[in-house]
Amino acid sequence: MRVLVTGGAGYIGSVVAKRLLEHGEEVAVLDDLSTGHADAVPEGAELHLGRVHDAGSVLAGCRFDAAVHLAAASLVAESIADPAKYEENNVVGSRRLLEALGGLGVGVLVFSSTAAVYGEPESVPIEEDAPTRPVNPYGASKLAVDEMLAAEAERSGLAAVSLRYFNVAGAYAGLGERHHPETHLVPIALEVALGLRPSLVVYGDDYPTPDGTCVRDYIHVADIAEAHLAALAHAEAGRHRVYNLGNGTGFSVLEVIAAVERVTGRMLEVTVGPRRPGDPAVLVASSARARLELGWSPRRASLERIVGDAFEVLEARRGEQP
Ligand code: UFG
Repeated sequence: MRVLVTGGAGYIGSVVAKRLLEHGEEVAVLDDLSTGHADAVPEGAELHLGRVHDAGSVLAGCRFDAAVHLAAASLVAESIADPAKYEENNVVGSRRLLEALGGLGVGVLVFSSTAAVYGEPESVPIEEDAPTRPVNPYGASKLAVDEMLAAEAERSGLAAVSLRYFNVAGAYAGLGERHHPETHLVPIALEVALGLRPSLVVYGDDYPTPDGTCVRDYIHVADIAEAHLAALAHAEAGRHRVYNLGNGTGFSVLEVIAAVERVTGRMLEVTVGPRRPGDPAVLVASSARARLELGWSPRRASLERIVGDAFEVLEARRGEQP
């Protein structure tokens, strides 16, 4: 297969591109490098510089069998401060990409959606037919694209899949998180362990959870990438299918910190601060549908493995210029 990966210079996109190449597919990346890194695009994938909005012109003359669409703005706090950016990048950009797909020969699309579409869940683990009530513009923008894909599958016969990731972490083949600024718990805790930042603030310890801190379902980036390969293989023409991707086990912020201390052998300087706006107390996935229909199951499920792989790559990159 010849596969287009939008956002393939980013954290998850680069791992998806890498796994596709290892699986023997041909890969082209479309990325504007606004948050991605050219050197994260795996060897063997060709990089086309540009926004998804301009996919039709940037990729004119190219033909693909399938596309994996990860290019997006993805910071919850930024989306609250600048909702127009999320509408323009994520919703309008995806619309333009869909308009270009026919001309590029693409009949299968796998889209990077998020647990943020569910907002504050009524119950956990969360199944795909749980109510979608996003509590921030980031989640709303991803939900709008999920709905766009359902309509497009019906209209044009596109085979479409939305993968709703829970908390992606870890690293694969030297590809780890390199966000600037970094906002995610695992890399921040590892940076504290490495002495790259002085301390970590726990955003609230008064949630209705066993230790008072938020509980999340952490999933290894290579397992996430694997699900994209399975989704490409199982997508059906004229159908849009949604899958939640997680391990089905929740860990609190304090449990993640303890895992980082165990893996790195260093104690972290930790303080407790106020809650971060828009953080649900507990987000844990039911991935039963992905297991059943895609034959997918996570192979790197332990928190130690996820944290350990992220640590290895961060430590290797230490001292490099951002
Ligand atoms: N946290 C801290 N201190 C930090 C950073 C995070 O206490 O310095 C806490 C957060 O409050 C949260 C947990 O650690 O409870 C995980 O936070 P992350 O920022 O790592 O991840 P989120 O759960 O906020 O975000 C993830 C995805 C988003 C997605 C969101 C849906 O990364 O893309 O889930 O809620 F939108």
